[in-house]
Amino acid sequence: MNKTQWTPTGEVSGAGLGLRSNHYQHILDSKPDVPWFELLSDNYMSGGGLPIARAEAIRDLYPVTLHGVGMSLGSIDPLNLEYMKRLKLLVDRLEPVYVSDHIAWVSVDGKYTHDLLPLPYTLESKQVVVDRISQAQELLGRQILVENPSSYLAFNFSDMDEQVFLTEVVAESGCGILLDVNNVYVSSMNHGFSAEAYLMGLPKERVKEIHLAGYEQKGSYLFDTHGHRVHQPVWELYQKTLELFGAVPTLVEWDTDVPEFEVLQGEAQKAQFYLDKAR
Ligand SMILES: [Fe+2]
Repeated sequence: MNKTQWTPTGEVSGAGLGLRSNHYQHILDSKPDVPWFELLSDNYMSGGGLPIARAEAIRDLYPVTLHGVGMSLGSIDPLNLEYMKRLKLLVDRLEPVYVSDHIAWVSVDGKYTHDLLPLPYTLESKQVVVDRISQAQELLGRQILVENPSSYLAFNFSDMDEQVFLTEVVAESGCGILLDVNNVYVSSMNHGFSAEAYLMGLPKERVKEIHLAGYEQKGSYLFDTHGHRVHQPVWELYQKTLELFGAVPTLVEWDTDVPEFEVLQGEAQKAQFYLDKAR
């Protein structure tokens, strides 16, 4: 397929929210003023039932994006065609503005883990990831976004740092970037690199969406739990990110100990304040 046809369906702008099951009813009843929602694609891929009916009801009210964890783009396993088929059906059904997954691997020999595992940043692994992304984009008939991971270990035999790896993957596959600012901060603290230098090395025109989330301090390292408000250093790095990349649509993620909807909405409104300033 001609890559110029890989254009998003519609658009999102401003600070959206991750859709969580305990907020469905509140959203459908009160239709809160939220510019868009991000849905976790893996929760809606069974093909029917209440989850997809709810997803369609939300999609009828708001623009949506789809974010997943199952493509396993960094695995040496071949791309799971059955998974991609179900994802394509979901994409056709919900018409999300963006479809995204991670620079990570979650499977080996067809066995899956729930964790997004890090990969060495070598020329060989880069080719694996580029091939998987290119195939995924062909199968979906559109560009995907890939998210930078948070990590707690690095490989001695990596040939390049993560920002160079991500930049080259994006250039060679034609995909976009879902820039998780919290992950950049967490990894920069865990590995001792400059978060700002990382951001400055990324291709501006490919950064299509931003994630924010809360981490946890665990003794000598930071752990990306998605169970807290966004911490102040991440808000500060977010402002620098907006200075570099402009008012990129931003999503606040909260996956564990999900609070009342208003708490989540408050975090999005804070992101919106910085987005308005950046404009
Ligand atoms: Fe994220």
